[in-house]
Amino acid sequence: MKIESLLIHGGISVDEATGAVNIPIYQTSTYKQQSLGVNKGYEYSRTGNPTREALEKLINDLEKGYEGFAFASGLAAISAVLLLFKSGDKIILSDNVYGGTYRIFDKVFKQFNLEYELVDTSDLKAVEEAIDDKTKAIFIETPTNPLMTITDIRKISELARKKGLLTVVDNTFMTPYLQRPIELGVDIVVHSATKYLGGHSDLIAGLAVVNSAELAEKLHFIQNATGGILNPSDAWLLIRGIKTLGVRMDRHVENAEFVTKYLESNEVVQKIYYPGLKTHDGYDIHKTQADGAGGMISFVLKPQYDVKKFFESLDLITLGESLGGVESLACHPASMTHASIPYEIRQEIGIVDNLIRLSVGIESKEDIVKDLDSAFKAVKL
Ligand SMILES: Cc1ncc(COP(=O)(O)O)c(C=O)c1O
Repeated sequence: MKIESLLIHGGISVDEATGAVNIPIYQTSTYKQQSLGVNKGYEYSRTGNPTREALEKLINDLEKGYEGFAFASGLAAISAVLLLFKSGDKIILSDNVYGGTYRIFDKVFKQFNLEYELVDTSDLKAVEEAIDDKTKAIFIETPTNPLMTITDIRKISELARKKGLLTVVDNTFMTPYLQRPIELGVDIVVHSATKYLGGHSDLIAGLAVVNSAELAEKLHFIQNATGGILNPSDAWLLIRGIKTLGVRMDRHVENAEFVTKYLESNEVVQKIYYPGLKTHDGYDIHKTQADGAGGMISFVLKPQYDVKKFFESLDLITLGESLGGVESLACHPASMTHASIPYEIRQEIGIVDNLIRLSVGIESKEDIVKDLDSAFKAVKL
């Protein structure tokens, strides 16, 4: 089945018990057991719930993995994956990831002596040099949040395999509709399903997919033991969102390409980060590993212009955290999504104070550009 059909028919798309074409919300914590140790496959909803299971099978089908897992948030999914490692292990981390991902490495897991090293993972040589005896995994975002840095997934996975390391990809920006890292050699994929997969800014959820029975057994143990599961109602809402992912992503990409062309022509813009631009570093690599450039654009205003005024002058586009919903959102990474990254590191990697991140929605592309245009006119006054 092609991905467009899998989005609708993947996982468990019909309820066995009733024939309902939407899996019901099995809003239950526990299940009647027929006798001691005899049940219908479910005992307690932290361990397993039919609605969550339908979603877990769906994301696994989409990512072409071995097993999928649903969590209460993207960060809960990432935490569960990090719990696969031990004190004294080291993980190589892309140097401009989502601020919350950096924070969980730096402020939570570091306390338990799980080390990390920030590396520009687009530079294969730098990654190879950072690998030492303690290194157990490479954790990447590609494109990264917010600078859209592209890492060669095939090459990183090859290197990791050669050195006996796991590769983890945060696939939030691309979704399996545009990029399937496990097919390219990766071991684990994580998602903030809060974003494009949900698609309507109405839920918080996280997903993880692993490529082997061994990792599945370990992650299932961690999911059940630590309990950061997704509730049945949000699992249902997420399945519903995923059904329209294909049409939404096509429109996000079309609109983002249109907005990028407009930004290129505007004199207040100093630099644009968008993987669909031929001038973007990693453009050629991205084309070989993804089926589109996505709906996220970052750009820098020239230093003489005031970002605060830009945000205040938006009307259709909402100033807000998050991304990937049907509505266009703009954010200021330095003070919002990436504020937890120290100022010096932000400057070094390019998350400057005049950087703006746009999640291009699926409204009329002309209306989005009109709104940007009037905000740019206001900053010039
Ligand atoms: C790339 C990426 N990964 C992970 C997360 C964390 O996900 P959540 O907010 O669902 O916990 C985010 C949130 O913005 C993100 O952008």
